[in-house]
Amino acid sequence: MNELLKNIVWNMSEVIPEERAGMLGQRGCVLWLTGLSGSGKSTIARALEKSLIQEKRLAYVLDGDNMRHGLNKDLGFTEKDRNENIRRIIEVSNLFADCGVICISAFISPFRAIREQAKQIIGPDRFFEIYLSTSLKICEQRDPKGLYKRARRGDIQSFTGIDSPYESPDHPDLRMDTETLSVDECVEPILSMLSAYQKK
Ligand code: ADX
Repeated sequence: MNELLKNIVWNMSEVIPEERAGMLGQRGCVLWLTGLSGSGKSTIARALEKSLIQEKRLAYVLDGDNMRHGLNKDLGFTEKDRNENIRRIIEVSNLFADCGVICISAFISPFRAIREQAKQIIGPDRFFEIYLSTSLKICEQRDPKGLYKRARRGDIQSFTGIDSPYESPDHPDLRMDTETLSVDECVEPILSMLSAYQKK
């Protein structure tokens, strides 16, 4: 047991998950979007969020760039910092799911082991890994923030896909390539998967 936890006692809620689900008319879950910078994670996350809110479903996006302005502003891009970034996001995503929210977490999350941890901590039944498999070639051509160009010039170190690895998922729940699919074509299968989960 973690030494720091030896004097800490878990406090139990008197509210069961079904009470919240009944109140909101939905079950909380985490839609985890992983992929290279420029693969379309934020675009799809925002489109998905908009579409769910229009359907009166409570959804909220946790986005890599945004979280690094607040909760994770003390972290950089070493392997250790990226794992800490994701560790915190796993915990926040888990709390959102507990609240009954459809939490859309869009992070490069390049390491397989920590994404596996996300699944175990959040719970395999309510965690969905969605892999945006858009190739490095296309992401680099798009370069929406000009970061690939800067990484190639050596102005940014440890840039994913350039001098830092991306470990692709072996068995994602969904895999899509935004080179060939439109935003709507990516959102649609996610909504179908979600609807099957809500009916379970
Ligand atoms: S993660 O690797 O720790 O999961 P995260 O999704 O939070 O990354 O943040 C990625 C965003 O930070 C990218 O969309 C990009 O805009 C920016 N960024 C800045 N430096 C780097 C870098 N070295 N590698 C990858 N992304 C970077």
